[in-house]
Amino acid sequence: MTARFLGRSIFGDPANAGKVLSREEANALLDSWVLNDKLRVHMRQVGNLMQRWAAEKEGLDEAGQWRWEMAGLLHDADWDQWPDQHCSKIVTELEARNIDPEIIRAIASHGPIHFGVEPESRMDQMLYAFDELSGLIHAYSLMRETGYEGMDVAGVKKRLKSKGFAANVSRDDIQDACTRANISLEDLIDFIVKHQGDFQKTLDGNSES
Ligand SMILES: [Fe+2]
Ligand SMILES: [Fe+2]
Repeated sequence: MTARFLGRSIFGDPANAGKVLSREEANALLDSWVLNDKLRVHMRQVGNLMQRWAAEKEGLDEAGQWRWEMAGLLHDADWDQWPDQHCSKIVTELEARNIDPEIIRAIASHGPIHFGVEPESRMDQMLYAFDELSGLIHAYSLMRETGYEGMDVAGVKKRLKSKGFAANVSRDDIQDACTRANISLEDLIDFIVKHQGDFQKTLDGNSES
């Protein structure tokens, strides 16, 4: 990842708390900024994990779940076309659109060693925690004949230990994210495998119809 220190730790305007893009607006932004299909899938996967976590673990209502999902959905929006501006471009865009500071901050802190912003809120921490591991688990599903079916925690841990597998995924970031979020690696893997597997079925279903 190209590092771009954001040089600040406060994002957005507190007066915009609760302001979000509609799902249509968020999808339009994603579709116009991100041309790479693989990256789009990654962003949708992380959005889905954020939504599931907000619902199941944080007990948030639909509006709260969407705020979490939106952070996941747009966290890499500028990575495809403007990697040297990752993630300042999307942060600036969402600030200009008067979006809830909590969402902007979560995006700004999804790679603390890259952007220099500490994940603080639960939303910040979980976006950071899902990001890299979601990608590694998806790569693992693609090399398994049965995809996510029958995937277990031990299998994922084995891939994590194998340095040659998904070598661009930072193991240090994953460990650091678990520590910060105070969640075990096993629980995080388990949550991702289950929900990303379910999500994959909906993606497969859509492409078949
Ligand atoms: Fe990123
Ligand atoms: Fe990402």
